[in-house]
Amino acid sequence: SDANAVNGSVRQESSPLFTVQSPNVEYTRMKSRTTEVTRTVDNKLLATPKASNYHFKVDRKVGKVGMMLVGWGGNNGSTVTAGILANRRGLTWETREGQQKANYYGSIVMSSTVKLGTDAKTAEEINIPFRDLLPMAHPNDLAIGGWDISSMDLAASMDRAQVLEPALKSLVRKEMAEMKPLPSIYYPDFIAANQEGRADNVLKGTKACWAHVEKIQKDIRDFKAQNGLDKVIVMWTANTERYADIVPGVNDTAENLINSIKNGHAEVSPSTVFAVASILDNVPFINGSPQNTFVPGALQLAEQRKAFIGGDDFKSGQTKMKSALVDFLINAGIKLTSIASYNHLGNNDGKNLSSQKQFRSKEISKSNVVDDMVAANNILYEKDEHPDHTVVIKYMPAVGDNKRALDEYYAEIFMGGHQTISLFNICEDSLLASPLIIDLVVLAEMMTRISWKEDTEGAEYRGFHSVLSVLSYMLKAPLTPPGTPVVNALGKQRSALINIFRACVGLQPESEMTLEHKLL
Ligand code: NAI
Repeated sequence: SDANAVNGSVRQESSPLFTVQSPNVEYTRMKSRTTEVTRTVDNKLLATPKASNYHFKVDRKVGKVGMMLVGWGGNNGSTVTAGILANRRGLTWETREGQQKANYYGSIVMSSTVKLGTDAKTAEEINIPFRDLLPMAHPNDLAIGGWDISSMDLAASMDRAQVLEPALKSLVRKEMAEMKPLPSIYYPDFIAANQEGRADNVLKGTKACWAHVEKIQKDIRDFKAQNGLDKVIVMWTANTERYADIVPGVNDTAENLINSIKNGHAEVSPSTVFAVASILDNVPFINGSPQNTFVPGALQLAEQRKAFIGGDDFKSGQTKMKSALVDFLINAGIKLTSIASYNHLGNNDGKNLSSQKQFRSKEISKSNVVDDMVAANNILYEKDEHPDHTVVIKYMPAVGDNKRALDEYYAEIFMGGHQTISLFNICEDSLLASPLIIDLVVLAEMMTRISWKEDTEGAEYRGFHSVLSVLSYMLKAPLTPPGTPVVNALGKQRSALINIFRACVGLQPESEMTLEHKLL
């Protein structure tokens, strides 16, 4: 328990569920309770409680962490960078509404709390900052770097993005001007032709080659050495690419994919080359855009190398609302019959998405987000029945980063009545996405320090599955280990994340039963 005090983590000293063997490593034991359902011969459901014991081990030493962004000079890249600098220096600036102080609003790690338990004396709920659940990296301490096909320094990029207030920009301008993106890989076929004008910072070659993989690996290693880092996380926040065709013999297996890169096959995208370079160096790689960066061969390579990957597509605005609202409607027993989602935006992302193939990537990513919730309710929906769902995105330069999202939810209620919910969501897109980038980096890094083993003789500690589905809360089309279900419902995603972290400090999942208040 002395070690507990040193670690400063919040938990009951006498918990029998864990022992701390050294100040830097924490061991816990957890009973995970699930319900196994089988069908009898006459097709009745038989539910059996199951309990499995797991051991978790947490390396509590955070170390120095760096984040490298692909598309660093974009709206998200420049905004998240300025935001971290402003927080690091505790900046305040004038706006027309008065003084504004740097904050991390929109980050679940930095700005949300979780229920720890109930106060023994007052029966009040005790909530603690999410970031205190486990020893996580602080975003203020992240080293920041990355690549862009545009050579603009980060100060000029921030001006081009037109997201931040002038007063804030002037405070971070000097530091931002010294930040210059590394040259990147540009295969024009994968992003919209309208992006060509900014591609003045590119490596030689317009299709995949092994030299590109090696150059990216070298960039990551150099960044790590120059900044004295223990770990780097690489994140794709560059333009949305078109889908890569899945071609047998080309990108269907790890070996084929590597050979295709070596042979310069035209169907390998820049994002896949970045993913392969990161995987081979065991650097976690997260895809913040909708395209299928993780072709089957890339996924297999990550599994073989036990490297962490996560994706796809930041879940920032419209889809985040959708994955909360639809969960609520269907769980309330209301039959949602159609969702019409319309957006217009005027930033460079919108410009790129005005091209059909790139829009198609986004359309796919935005389309499947209600499937799990619909499939779970066989009272409202027949097998394979779905609400109608349409997604429209239009480029409207004048609104810049101030994206508009209009959604109409049309539902059937009691006795044939109807309910129509119209949402009009206006917000700066990059101010929603930036905190997600931070959460993804901090949480992915945290996952590299957690290992587990079964409660059996001779079992050894190992990492989580390569595909970090625990990051789903931040992602629109969550990637999950092959053969496992995709969970889109926002509430479930958050519970999974929090309860896994609770398990790591030896606490039971939060069940919300609150029997202690109900059986007085
Ligand atoms: P942006 O267009 O402002 O920035 C993208 C940057 O990537 C540009 O600076 C561009 O020069 C660079 N780039 C393009 N290809 C590259 C390559 N091969 N290597 C290196 N750099 C490259 O876009 P924004 O608004 O920052 O969004 C970035 C991505 O995040 C887009 O794909 C977008 O769809 C996705 N996303 C954004 C959300 C949001 O902003 N709320 C939500 C969900 C996804």
